[in-house]
Amino acid sequence: MTGGYVFIATSLDGFIARQDGDISWLLARDDLAEDHGFDPFIGRMDAMVMGAGTWAAVQELDPWPYPVPVLVLSRRLAGQAPPARLEGRVRFVDLAPEAAMEMLAAEGAQRVYVDGGQVIRSFLRKGLIAEIILTQVPVLLGQGLPLFGPLPHDIDLKLLASHAFPSGLVQSHYRVAR
Ligand SMILES: NC(=O)c1ccc[n+]([C@@H]2O[C@H](COP(=O)([O-])OP(=O)(O)OC[C@H]3O[C@@H](n4cnc5c(N)ncnc54)[C@H](OP(=O)(O)O)[C@@H]3O)[C@@H](O)[C@H]2O)c1
Repeated sequence: MTGGYVFIATSLDGFIARQDGDISWLLARDDLAEDHGFDPFIGRMDAMVMGAGTWAAVQELDPWPYPVPVLVLSRRLAGQAPPARLEGRVRFVDLAPEAAMEMLAAEGAQRVYVDGGQVIRSFLRKGLIAEIILTQVPVLLGQGLPLFGPLPHDIDLKLLASHAFPSGLVQSHYRVAR
């Protein structure tokens, strides 16, 4: 069955960005240059789904960091062509979480990297997330864009592994209980 996989960093108080989308508090950390397991993670993925907010933050990245086909969920951008340099690698679609996963499943994807706070929350609400690798950064931002939010019911998680890096970053790998 096709499942969603999250690999994301938050402040200790659970924010993925400041309210205005700023993630310099994350990017400015020298310790991020340490290996935190992104390469082996993305190496296991067949495709990626991200929200329009995350697309806005990553669209200029050069080199493009995602070696798998990327689906950007956006009512605003749906139907538009991606920038020429990302042709064949990025598609803009207006699909609900289940429909996006069904489309990727039909294309043969089993493991889908899901990114963006709003998108992750909508996939969690639909039971489409299989695993979460959460890296907590030892900073309190007080406010910002949250990773988690309201749910129709509790979601139980099983801790598969936890690792504290010398930098103070703590990474926890969870499987979503079914
Ligand atoms: N800390 C980290 O590791 C990390 C990781 C990723 C992102 N970020 C940061 O997080 C910010 C973006 O996150 P975000 O929570 O604001 O937005 P997001 O989830 O990336 O994007 C949300 C947007 O996606 C579109 N959308 C389409 N279908 C959707 C669906 N089913 N569910 C939800 N949204 C859907 C909507 O835009 P339309 O109006 O176009 O439809 C919505 O406004 C950026 O600042 C980025 O830098 C941080």
